[in-house]
Parts: sequence; structure tokens; C-alpha cells
Amino acid sequence: MQRLPFLSGPPKKLVAMPASSHLLLCLCLALVSGLATASPSPRDLRRFSAGDIAAVEATLPRHRRSSGTTFFEVDRPLRPPKGSSGPCSTLLLSHSFAFTLTKPPVTAAYSPPSCLLGAGASVSLAVLEWRAECRGVQYDRIFGVWLAGVELLRGSTAEPRPGGVSWSVSKDVTRYAPLLAAAGNNATLAVYLGNLIDDTYNGVYHANLTLHLYFLRRAAARPSSPAPADVVVPISRSLPLNDGLWFVVQNSTDVQSTPVSVPPNAYRAVLEVYVSSHYADEFWYMNTPEENGPFREVTVLLDGDVVGAVWPFPVIYTGGINPLIWRPITSIGSFNFPTYDIELTPFLGKLLAGGDHEVGFAVTNAQSSWYVDANLHLWLDAKSSKTTAGLIAYDAPKLSGSIVSRSADGIDGEYDATASRNITATGWVSSPSRGNVTTTFTQRMSFANTNVVSSHGSAQAINQTTDAVTTVVFAGEQKQEVHQSFPLYIFLGGDGSGTSSQRLMRRVEIGFDESRSGGAETSTLRNRQAAAAEVTVKDDAVVGASWRMHQTYAYSDSDGGGCYVRNVSSVGYDVLFDHRDASCDGALVGR
Ligand SMILES: *[C@@H]1O[C@H](CO)[C@@H](O)[C@H](O)[C@H]1NC(C)=O
Ligand SMILES: *[C@@H]1O[C@H](CO)[C@@H](O)[C@H](O)[C@H]1NC(C)=O
Ligand SMILES: *[C@@H]1O[C@H](CO)[C@@H](O)[C@H](O)[C@H]1NC(C)=O
Ligand SMILES: *[C@@H]1O[C@H](CO)[C@@H](O)[C@H](O)[C@H]1NC(C)=O
Ligand SMILES: *[C@@H]1O[C@H](CO)[C@@H](O)[C@H](O)[C@H]1NC(C)=O
Ligand SMILES: *[C@@H]1O[C@H](CO)[C@@H](O)[C@H](O)[C@H]1NC(C)=O
Ligand SMILES: *[C@@H]1O[C@H](CO)[C@@H](O)[C@H](O)[C@H]1NC(C)=O
Repeated sequence: MQRLPFLSGPPKKLVAMPASSHLLLCLCLALVSGLATASPSPRDLRRFSAGDIAAVEATLPRHRRSSGTTFFEVDRPLRPPKGSSGPCSTLLLSHSFAFTLTKPPVTAAYSPPSCLLGAGASVSLAVLEWRAECRGVQYDRIFGVWLAGVELLRGSTAEPRPGGVSWSVSKDVTRYAPLLAAAGNNATLAVYLGNLIDDTYNGVYHANLTLHLYFLRRAAARPSSPAPADVVVPISRSLPLNDGLWFVVQNSTDVQSTPVSVPPNAYRAVLEVYVSSHYADEFWYMNTPEENGPFREVTVLLDGDVVGAVWPFPVIYTGGINPLIWRPITSIGSFNFPTYDIELTPFLGKLLAGGDHEVGFAVTNAQSSWYVDANLHLWLDAKSSKTTAGLIAYDAPKLSGSIVSRSADGIDGEYDATASRNITATGWVSSPSRGNVTTTFTQRMSFANTNVVSSHGSAQAINQTTDAVTTVVFAGEQKQEVHQSFPLYIFLGGDGSGTSSQRLMRRVEIGFDESRSGGAETSTLRNRQAAAAEVTVKDDAVVGASWRMHQTYAYSDSDGGGCYVRNVSSVGYDVLFDHRDASCDGALVGR
């Protein structure tokens, strides 16, 4: 493997780094400065510093500097099913996160809101709302919310402005309803947000966490909607901790695991995985062969066997690539990271067989660090004290993958990485009341990434696609299928290197496309962003910046309850237009 000189970067610090470690500027500018031998002391542009942002703010008209700004992630609104009552809203926690890095998570005692304890109604929608403000200077930080060790929400914070920013995110947490309702449980709600305060980075995050509940009379509950699990078992670290409850995976051989046991009458098991990448792997999709290449997958291990894989969506935190790009429209998933479901029902035979079993996580090609944990959703057969189960077939061939690098002159060149993986497992679960049901779980995944360096090392383009198809077939007929496709294109370039005037260009195109089908219900989502930023530097000082974002979001479902189309665009901090349509007629626009 040939080492291309332009990609040698400085060693990466692992201490007190923000969620976003700004490596992209580093990659590109290391090469710009490498060529800029005419420049006596090349400016250190490895980070877009607080001073750089302040310089950009200073170029704005005065009234735009002092006003507060609302940042937002485009997502469909959460609407309770027709006929629901509510919301019944409860403030779960209110806290100001100042110097919280390496300190214990903030906790609050949780007991179910009294509206949850009434008989005769069931939760039709549960929404967890995170609302926060910050003023001053601060990096983007990662935070997580856990209830009784079960992770409910993970996100990145917005980076503040001197005049203050606010944002809110609402997540559908209906699938955790049994946990929220577990009366008599003295549950601990824990929030970790690792923030650091010093002379420069003075932004304190003020946050409120609120639970909104909607109810339907039990008789009116739609039989078609999938019922949440009966119990949710945390697969995370336990308090006390001076960190989040996530496991930290540090390298490609690191396996983080914990013993798990399941109730004897479980008949279905789904593992919901949370992942985020940090420090040296924050921008894993740009990594060179020396940095273990651009492919990563999180594997789920049961007693050491790979039983499922997560090929993560590349969440770009609010400080990533160029922080301005994500103001005011933040990147897809950044305020509410996606999670990934692995069907473990075929392996219930093993899980039900006495004793503890180890559920573990590894990250293929990992560099430090990946934060991974999971929730095990279990459905119990109330009419039986015991189910029996067995594995019928299991095939998880080794990951197939390659990385090829080409360069004629050792400066310009190309890396091409590909990977593919298949996992399939079939098992039966039997109980007197449910009979003998066979479940087959299949994953088919493919990945391709090209990283092209051109213009004598001054430009770099990454083009990546990740495709995953996951199917679950029950009793040979009922089928659930999820197709996901995550296109990603990043361009880093500049001109005028070595002169007193430079322009630094960034372009990002990213998409989260998903279609789901299960029984009679289908849904499709096409969520795309295209953004660009240009920063002008004169005599080592940022003198100007411009940036724009265009996002289209189109969701529709056969249910009729959730059509939503949005077409929104911003230039600088201003929203240029924002078209929304929640009628199903318009749902096909932009497809
Ligand atoms: C949190 O709630 C308190 C009390 O209602 C309110 O004063 C404060 O402004 C809220 N903060 C945020 C960030 O919403
Ligand atoms: C719940 O916790 C509180 C305070 O931590 C304690 O006083 C109470 O006895 C506990 N209740 C139960 C049912 O464990
Ligand atoms: C990988 O990480 C684990 C956990 O931190 C550590 O014990 C091990 O030494 C590391 N291995 C390598 C090769 O760095
Ligand atoms: C996965 O399955 C597909 C379709 O059967 C096949 O084309 C592909 O080669 C398989 N990949 C691996 C890595 O086994
Ligand atoms: C359930 O069916 C599978 C094959 O379909 C069979 O191997 C297994 O023995 C059956 N279990 C029971 C308890 O009948
Ligand atoms: C990325 O590659 C795909 C094919 O793999 C191509 O269709 C697409 O146009 C490329 N995107 C850009 C922005 O070049
Ligand atoms: C979004 O709105 C703009 C401005 O009205 C329009 O030109 C464009 O065609 C729309 N795009 C989509 C995908 O609807």
C-alpha cells in the first residue's frame, strides 16, 4: 500500500476534545501548508477556532450579531393517533451543564407521572423533548439520556453564538412505554453532557427534559400498530461513572461486553443499538489506509459470535467539516442520532438456556473512540411461565472488503474501499399459548467509498454509499423489511495557498433514505441535504465567510397518518424559504 504524503497529519490529541474534532480542516490544510513553502509561517488552520468564528461574526451587521438564533434539525412532526387525549407533560430534569466533562452524569429520580397510572388507557404516543440554550463560545458536545440504564436519546449540542442559540428536539419514545410506566420502580434518570469551561470556551448549556404522553382508550388502540416490548433491558454500563453509560470501544480488537439474562417466558428479542464516533474516528469515512481506511461497522456479539451488524449513518456533528454549514439548519441526525435494530429472536434458544450470556460490541477497523450501548426489547408470553427455543440455521461469513490506492505522482491519487456483509439466522420459539413459530433474520449490506485527491494535493473529494437491507420473517409469512441507503459526498478545496489571500471551500451532500414494510404498513423517507461554505482568509485572518444549505425531506406512509414534505433553504443565518406540506397529496414531491 502506497502512502500518499499529503495525508500525513499531526498526531491526534485524545484529551478534552469536543464531539467534533475538526479533523477535516486538518487533513486539507496540512496539505495546503505543505505546498505553501513560500509562506513564511503557514497559519495553523487545523481548527476553525473560536477566534475564527468571532471574526466571521464581526463581518455581520451589528443587529445580526446580538440576536439569539434558533437552530433546528428538519424532521417530521410527531402526531398522536386520532382520538388520543393529552398531552400530559412532565418536566423530568432541568440543569445547567457547565464543567461536566469527566464528572458523574446529572441524575434525577423518576417515577411514572400520575396520568400514566390510570387504568383503561394505553399510551398512544410518548415524546421526549430536549430543549436547550447556550450563549458565548463552546464546542459541540455529545450528550446521552438514560432511564434505569436504558438509553432514550443521544445527540450533539448546537455550537453557541455570542448572542445565544437555542434548539429543541422531540423524539418518539413510545417504544419505551413499559419502562416509563414501570410503577414502583425507583428509576434513575441520568444525563451526561461532557462540557468543558475555560477562559475561551465559556458556553454553559441550559437544558430542560420533558416527557409528553398521549393516551387512547384501550378498546380504541389500533391493532395494526406494533405493540412495544414488555420489558426493556439495558445493555450499558452502570452508575456510578464519571462518563456516559455507553461502552467505549477504543480499537479494532477491543470488545466491550456485559452479561445478560432474559425472563424464561420471552418469545421475541430485539436489540436496539446506539453508536457514535469520536476523536480519531469522528470522520471515519475520510480516513486513510494508515488510519484503518474509511470503512467501519459495529458488530453485535453473542457469546463471541457475530449475530448482527450496524453500518452507521455518518452523523456530522454541529462543529464538523465547517461549523457554519450547520447554522441554522443542523445536519441530519445530529440532534437525535439514529438507532439500529438487530433481531435476536433466532438466538432465544441460547439466551433462554440457563445462566448468563455475554452481549458484546466491537467496531471493525476502529480507532479511538466509539461510544456504543444498546437496549434489549423483550416480549413476554403472559400466558406461559416458560417458552422453549432453538437455533435452526446461522450463517455469518466473514466481512468481505478491500482498499486500493492509486497515485501516479505520489501526490494526487485515489483510494477505493468496498465492503459487503451478509448475516442470516433462523430459530424457533415455542410455548403452549403461541405455538411453535420460526423467525428468520437477514442482513445484506454493501459499502463503497472513493477518496480522490487532485489539484496537486489541494483538493479532496469523498464519495460514499452505504446500503443495508434487513428482513425479518415470522412463521414463514409475516415479513418486515427495512432498506436503508446513506449517500455521502464531501469536497474540501481551496485556492490561493501560499499567497496572502486564500479561499477555503467545503461542500457536503448527505442523505438518509429509508423504506420500511411490515404487514400492510409501508413507509418511505427521503431526506437530503446539500450545503456549501466558503471562508476567505487574508494575511492569516478570516475576513469573510458565506454558506448555504438546501434540504428536502419527503416522508409518506400507508397509514395515512404521517405524510410530510419539507423543502427548506438557508443562506448564512437566514432561512430563504421553508415550504411544508403535511397533506398526503404532496407526499411524492421531491421523490
Ligand atoms: C427550562 O424551564 C425553566 C422553568 O420553566 C425556564 O425558566 C427555562 O427558560 C427553561 N429553559 C429552557 C432551555 O427551555
Ligand atoms: C425510592 O428512593 C427514595 C429516595 O432515594 C427512597 O426514599 C424510597 O424509599 C425509594 N422507594 C422504593 C420503593 O424503593
Ligand atoms: C485495544 O483497546 C483495549 C481496551 O482499551 C486495550 O486493552 C488494548 O491494549 C488495545 N489494543 C491495542 C492493540 O491497542
Ligand atoms: C451476500 O449475498 C449476496 C446475495 O446473495 C451475494 O451477492 C454477495 O456476494 C454476498 N456477500 C458476501 C460478503 O457474502
Ligand atoms: C419447533 O419447530 C422446529 C422446526 O420447525 C423443530 O425443530 C422444533 O423441535 C419444534 N419445537 C417444538 C417444541 O415442537
Ligand atoms: C458519487 O458516486 C455515485 C456512484 O457511485 C454517483 O452516482 C454520484 O454522482 C457521485 N456523487 C458525486 C457528487 O459525484
Ligand atoms: C423547493 O422550493 C424551491 C423554491 O420554491 C423550488 O424551486 C424547488 O423546485 C423546490 N424543490 C423541491 C424538491 O420541491
